[in-house]
This record gives sequence, structure tokens and C-alpha cells, in this order.
Amino acid sequence: MRRYNNFAAGWRSGRERVLTERHIQVLSGSPREDKMTKLEYICSKFEALEEQIAHCYFLLQERFLTNPGQAKFWAEAALEEMQHSSILRYCREHHLVGLDETVDVTMAARVDDLLDTVKGIVADPWITVDEAFYASLLIESSEIDDAYEKLTRRLAMDHPLLYEAIRANLRMHHDRFADGAAEFAKDKTYADAFRALSRTARSNGSSQR
Ligand SMILES: [Fe+2]
Ligand SMILES: [Fe+2]
Repeated sequence: MRRYNNFAAGWRSGRERVLTERHIQVLSGSPREDKMTKLEYICSKFEALEEQIAHCYFLLQERFLTNPGQAKFWAEAALEEMQHSSILRYCREHHLVGLDETVDVTMAARVDDLLDTVKGIVADPWITVDEAFYASLLIESSEIDDAYEKLTRRLAMDHPLLYEAIRANLRMHHDRFADGAAEFAKDKTYADAFRALSRTARSNGSSQR
């Protein structure tokens, strides 16, 4: 299941406002250097989004602290999101961001908008197990993993071993949600939805090679 929402952009934090000003400067230029800077700016947006998703999962880890199995599941999911953010940062800082016209600031804005909904759900201190999986399905089925895959794709040329490790970890990430939903959610349709998502991600990944 992939969502392609068309919600309005809304950069909120002070850091993001600074980046927006920089973005305006970037868009006003045309040389190749500016194009790279714009790409790295877009990458930085997705880094921040991955980190915010991690924060949502850390909150869920706290919520389900009395259930070690569930707490471990959400802690590991959070750490994987932190890893996604860190890999994007590596690509950006080493000028290895993959060029793909479909990954842009409006895509980041759509994910950001969806993430607002997810944040609202996970902020509830009495969130149920199924609501937690619903929230994670919302964001896991968004465009964020498409963006991550495309932004890191250039590593296939320059750092093939790292690229293969990234691909394997992403497959494991999707499978982990399907297994977690099967084990913990009362509504088993969440496991089915995550399995379908995992299959789609696998077929997209292999067709893009
Ligand atoms: Fe991620
Ligand atoms: Fe994820």
C-alpha cells in the first residue's frame, strides 16, 4: 500500500525555517553546484523526517515498557529509523546523494504532513497496540522509503557493499513490522497489510536495479 497525499507543506521548527531561507537562495541559482546543494537540502529534509519517525517509535517503546516483547520491538524499529537518518546524512556529507527528480521538497512536505497525524496518534499516553500499528502503517506505507531508496541509490556505484547492506536492512525493517504485527496486534489484518507492503517494496527494489 503506497499513499500519495497532496497536503500542503509546512516547515515548523526554527532549524527548518533557516533551511527554507537557504532553499530560496538555492532555487535562485542555476549552476551545477546549486543543483547539488538543492539535492543535499532535500536529503536533509528526509534525514529530519527519519529522525522524527524514530522519535515516534521511541515514544511507543516507552508506552509499552511493561511488555518487554513490545518495548523491544518499538526500540529496534526506532533504532532502524535513526540508522536511515544517519545513512542519508552520510550520503549528503560525502556528496553521494542520488539524483532523482521525483524526490523533491513537495514529497518531503507530504510525508511531513502525514507524520503530523502519526505524531498525534502516538502522543496519546493510552494508545492501544492496534492503534500503534495503525500509526506505523500510515508512515511506513508513505513515500519515505521510496525517497530513502532513491537518495541512497548512488551508493550502488561507489560503495556497493554498503548499498547491499542498506537494501538488506530495509527488507528486514519491513519484515520486522509484519512479524511484530502478527505477534502483538489483535487485528491480524495489520500483519497482512505489512506483508503486502514488504512484497511491494521488494518488487520495486528489484525492478529498479
Ligand atoms: Fe525509515
Ligand atoms: Fe520505517
